[in-house]
Amino acid sequence: MVKNHRKPSRKPWFITICSLFIIACLIAMPLLVGDPNGDKAPDWVRFLGHFHPVLLHLPIGVFALILFQETVGMFRSWRYGPGTPLFPMFFAAATAVVAVVAGFLLYQGGGYEGNATATRHLWLGLAFSVAAILTFLVKAWTVAYSGNALAFRAMLFGSSGLMAFASHDGASMTHGSTYLTQYAPPFLKKLLGEEVPAAKSTPAAKVASVDDLVVYTDVIAPILDNKCVQCHKAEKSKGRLRLDTYDMILKGGKEGDGIEPGNAHDSNLVFRIELEKDDDEHMPPEGKPDISVDELAVLKWWIDSGADPAKKVKDLEVPDAVRKSLDEVAGSLIKATAAAPINEELKQKVAGISKELSGALTYEAADSSNLVFTAVSIRDGFDDAQFGKLSPVLPELTSLDLASTQITDQSVEKLGDAKNLRTLRLSQTQIGDASLDTLAGLQTLESVNLYGTEVTDAGVEKLKSLPNLKHLYLWHTKVTPETIERLKKEMPNCEIVTGI
Ligand code: HEC
Repeated sequence: MVKNHRKPSRKPWFITICSLFIIACLIAMPLLVGDPNGDKAPDWVRFLGHFHPVLLHLPIGVFALILFQETVGMFRSWRYGPGTPLFPMFFAAATAVVAVVAGFLLYQGGGYEGNATATRHLWLGLAFSVAAILTFLVKAWTVAYSGNALAFRAMLFGSSGLMAFASHDGASMTHGSTYLTQYAPPFLKKLLGEEVPAAKSTPAAKVASVDDLVVYTDVIAPILDNKCVQCHKAEKSKGRLRLDTYDMILKGGKEGDGIEPGNAHDSNLVFRIELEKDDDEHMPPEGKPDISVDELAVLKWWIDSGADPAKKVKDLEVPDAVRKSLDEVAGSLIKATAAAPINEELKQKVAGISKELSGALTYEAADSSNLVFTAVSIRDGFDDAQFGKLSPVLPELTSLDLASTQITDQSVEKLGDAKNLRTLRLSQTQIGDASLDTLAGLQTLESVNLYGTEVTDAGVEKLKSLPNLKHLYLWHTKVTPETIERLKKEMPNCEIVTGI
């Protein structure tokens, strides 16, 4: 402040009044505009709002610079020169205001309804920009009075703290809350209070029977993940409802509670699912794979039994009718994931096959005997004889990709032993309807790709019996559009992809 020491300038009344006016506008902004309503916001709101992620770096950068200069300036002996001049602080405050206004428009543009992190980020951002303006004012008066830098520095550090909080929430929303710590060593994660893998990421893998499943984590959450969460999550919460965590399901949306523990009948989730399919309010909306009868039965049973987040199937009473649905929904989960640990015999078989079909056979996970095979890098010359080499490990296969190979119906006939197979790609091979007889017996199949094969109406008809089929690819086959239309109705839980 050397320069200003000698020549006290005029009192900064004008900028003080302007600044206070801007602060008043900032605080009034969210109060006057009200809750966001994305559907009504005009395009210019979204256009300007999308600049927020760019603009926000300006105040952060300038703050970092001023902080650095002031910190160094505090160690007088370093003689770094006088404190920072007024202009950088003006620039920091002005860009903070612009970034916050853009952020506010982004928020108004929709998609953040009911997102508590977004709302907190908005208020922290506002608080930060107000603090930045006040810091600028204190600096201006300090300069005018040639006062000492203490008050300014206190304000500077305070507003930087607010900035850190606000940016942390912002970054969590864009990158997920574990972005920074994702690859941190476990001890550091613990130190930061972050949970090392929660129950959700260790699904039924280690469980031997349906009774040992945790109802919410292992059965209910996967159903919602599959059918609802795409539209009801932190980044996109339609109807201000999130279905991606237990607390959020309880909390519900615009219309109130999502579920009422102990009372499925009065739970909004169930109400929406049970509406007629052609009702505009039916969930999931038209065109999205519906909840199956069994899934709904299990959901209602869980809610009626108190919707406990931690209880296992065996802790609850299971009526016979529900038992059937539960086996249907969770049974395949058990069969598919309760893989035995890898044993010596299997290791040798895999090693033997890998020698001949290099690199195409791998374990699904480090501690599971489930196997994955893809012929993608060896498809030239891969025929029925080559396929025969896989026969010792067919029961362990969960995923098999034979696309664009020279195999025929003869290979597929042998797949009868693949009792764990979930994903099968046969696209652009010579197989035809004969193969579909075999596939109809593979109850675990979830995804079947028949793109560019010779299969016909009569053949795909047989796949209707597959209880777990979720994706069926029929692009460029002999199946007629009429049959596809009919199958779509008859298989409401399966997405039929035709490329049209
Ligand atoms: C393709 C997107 C989409 C999917 C998938 C979807 N929803 Fe919705 N959901 C919406 C939209 C849009 C609204 C808001 C309009 C309305 O209220 O109908 C909504 C609203 C709701 C509401 C009312 C929330 C409130 O309080 O206003 C409930 C309950 C609901 N959905 C439940 C579900 C369930 C359960 C599933 C899964 C079975 C599901 N949704 C799947 C788009 C979706």
